[in-house]
Amino acid sequence: MVYLSLNVQTILAGLTIGYLVYYVIKRMRYRLPPGPWCIPLVGHYKIYGSVEIHKKIAELSKKYGPVVHVKFGPKMLIVLNNIDVTLEAMVKKKADFAGRPKINSMEVFTEGGKDIAFTTYSPTWKLHRKIAGKALRHYLQGDLLESMVQDNAEKFLNKMAEEKEPFFFKDFVDQMIFHQLYTICFGEKRPVDDPEVKALLKLDNDLFDLFGTGLAEDLVPYLKDIYPTARWEKFKKMTEEILQLLHTKFNQHKETFSPDKNRDFIDSLLMARQEAENEGNEDALEKLDDGYLVQTIADIFFAGVDTTRFTMDWFVYFMTRFPETQIKCQEEIDRVVGSGRPSMKDRSSLHYTEGCLFETLRLANVAGLGIPHKTICDTQVGGYDIPKSTTVLINFWALHHDTKYWKDPEQFDPTRYLDEDGKMKPTKPESWLPFSAGRRVCLGETVAKPELLLLCANLLQRFDIRLPDGVKANPEYNLKGFGIELPSDYKIVVKERTGN
Ligand code: HEM
Repeated sequence: MVYLSLNVQTILAGLTIGYLVYYVIKRMRYRLPPGPWCIPLVGHYKIYGSVEIHKKIAELSKKYGPVVHVKFGPKMLIVLNNIDVTLEAMVKKKADFAGRPKINSMEVFTEGGKDIAFTTYSPTWKLHRKIAGKALRHYLQGDLLESMVQDNAEKFLNKMAEEKEPFFFKDFVDQMIFHQLYTICFGEKRPVDDPEVKALLKLDNDLFDLFGTGLAEDLVPYLKDIYPTARWEKFKKMTEEILQLLHTKFNQHKETFSPDKNRDFIDSLLMARQEAENEGNEDALEKLDDGYLVQTIADIFFAGVDTTRFTMDWFVYFMTRFPETQIKCQEEIDRVVGSGRPSMKDRSSLHYTEGCLFETLRLANVAGLGIPHKTICDTQVGGYDIPKSTTVLINFWALHHDTKYWKDPEQFDPTRYLDEDGKMKPTKPESWLPFSAGRRVCLGETVAKPELLLLCANLLQRFDIRLPDGVKANPEYNLKGFGIELPSDYKIVVKERTGN
């Protein structure tokens, strides 16, 4: 027994010394970014365990500079905290930072990395991103996006108009955006209270809550094989339900697909496969099997719904907090749009309203710390070495609150984006980057911006929105983990505006 415990002690001591030697050699070989001391293997638990992780890291960057390292358990992560180092890494360094680390939960959700958002930089990722981008651009042609937004918005605005008591805007906008994605991806226009859409929304919300508080299996990867937690099992079950629905939709489309009629996003993907078949492009066909295509749909659906619905929730929150700003938007919408419905052609004239949307995107940290990047080779940023396979995060919150670029960063001020004539400036502010940049820039940016502006304009054209009598705006945020911020729950009342 003594012999055994001695052996265990020897092994532990050996492991510790080995780890220290490895650590010292690594530090000597590379000039790694600085960061605070932490307990080895446990890491900066007060940072990664906090819902204010983005603010804590921004605070660290004041002491250590814009590139800091933080340890999540035994894993070192690098966080970029200003626009210069972010653009250096994501744009100037081309593909160096365009990889993605393997994350256990995402491996399950993406059926082994068949998606776009969480899969690493590779020819397969490039092909799928190209096909998905082309399929999305289809929506920007003619009045497809416009009529889809108007149709969906109308359904839900009518329902909001029926509300006699104060209500949560979130409940309506969540459904509105889900219905919109149903139309884009599946070509379906469903009734307002459709139970299938509601069930998917609930699943998405539950999954989001589960992620917000983190999964132990993502921090300690081998846990899933030796002692999976109950939360992990729940996550797997929920993921299965979601993927099942997407596979069913895909199979239904396959059965009714006709190459000369593009009904929706799924058809666009099937057409891309048909093209590869016609060209006899075996290499592409191998990468276009059903599993990959279903995952591309999941990318568009889930990367699109949460960011868009949370942004809309923030927009209305700001409109209720600043009624005079709301009135200015409405005056502009009335002047530009008149009595018709806001359309794509009005987009370039809704300067003040767009300024409000851009300011919402700056302050609403809906993407949190974004999707983790990974270096695909040894590289550098901000004068530090970043070894191959290092996980790198962008602290969007820090970029959007950097006092070097933003005067009074906490203030909601749409005029930041306008010139002296009240028009949107031709270039965006330097440190404004809600959609990220470089190889991994948000794939949906070109759809999200007009979609959001049309929604905002439709909403404010129809209603005066305010908080219920006697209720003051709650300045507290609802922190969801991994840097994601949402407004605290708030109710609104709406009044139809006359003449619209
Ligand atoms: C307010 C709306 C949105 C915001 C703020 C937003 C923001 C972001 C951010 C920060 C990333 C991570 C970029 C990086 O890794 O550096 C991202 C990735 C992505 N977004 Fe968006 N997004 C929005 C809407 C959308 C929409 C509507 C779609 C789809 C129609 C979409 C599809 C994607 C996809 C597929 C990726 C992964 C790209 C890749 O890894 O190659 N997003 N988005």
